[in-house]
Amino acid sequence: MTRLNMPNFQLEQRVALVTGAGSGLGQGFAAALAAYGADVVITELPGRLDMAQPTLELIRSHGRKGLALELDVRDVPSCTRIVEQVVAEFGRVDILVNNAGVNRVQWAEDVTEENWDLVLDTDLKGAFFMSQAVGRHMITRAKAGDLGGRIINIASQMGVVGYYQRAAYGSAKAGLVNQTRVLAFEWAKHGITVNAIAPTFVRTPLTEQTFNQPEIKADLESRIPMGRIATVDDMLGAVVFLASSAASMVTGHTLLVDGGWTAV
Ligand SMILES: NC(=O)c1ccc[n+]([C@@H]2O[C@H](COP(=O)([O-])OP(=O)(O)OC[C@H]3O[C@@H](n4cnc5c(N)ncnc54)[C@H](O)[C@@H]3O)[C@@H](O)[C@H]2O)c1
Repeated sequence: MTRLNMPNFQLEQRVALVTGAGSGLGQGFAAALAAYGADVVITELPGRLDMAQPTLELIRSHGRKGLALELDVRDVPSCTRIVEQVVAEFGRVDILVNNAGVNRVQWAEDVTEENWDLVLDTDLKGAFFMSQAVGRHMITRAKAGDLGGRIINIASQMGVVGYYQRAAYGSAKAGLVNQTRVLAFEWAKHGITVNAIAPTFVRTPLTEQTFNQPEIKADLESRIPMGRIATVDDMLGAVVFLASSAASMVTGHTLLVDGGWTAV
């Protein structure tokens, strides 16, 4: 009889770094990685570290080590510094979740340069320089024989399809989808996988305002074959899977978690 190795979703003895984890999806990702056994370092914007406290409590409730650090991903030297801090404290980074992100909902004809730069610098440039900083560390470890780094970008279905008032956000997230492919291609030889998830609309502080407008909510629900706005819980399995050894042959992929929006 063929002997099969069953998929392993456990993350024990791994150290994860999740950016922007004081709220919404990032909080969920940090807690889910801890639930599967990882120690988790989370980041929040300078001056907002108190927001990270509930996430730390969730991580610790799973018996894992947690630490919250200040980080603005738009500041490239800070991206390098944060990785050095995590390595000094935890010895390694095995999993990076590039979750920090912003959106500015505006008609294309009204987009300001300031908002364009904010969204692109956070969602695209910030993710890249975090991946670069963590990637350098993972490459060094891989050369010493320690393979298996995981980078997971939180993109968006808005990086795959068009939608109103998403010129900057859609550009950033589409860039992130292809950045995922490029890094996957370059770093496969170091055993590092680079993937993304592309959520549909999820109820979080980022989107609360949108769902408070009944017409927009109804429009969104009518476009999602599953018939509802997604929850943070809906997104967690995809990230745990991509972080685990079960996904070791999956790289360069963007996993749509969109209730069927893009299937239609
Ligand atoms: N909520 C949705 O419908 C949805 C859908 C698809 C993708 N996403 C993506 O998921 C990620 C999380 O979104 P969310 O809905 O939880 O939003 P959120 O606003 O609740 O959380 C975003 C987090 O990023 C942090 N952040 C913002 N700018 C930062 C910066 N410059 N440096 C470091 N941290 C920064 C914020 O402090 C916050 O903790 C984002 O990348 C977002 O684009 C969200």
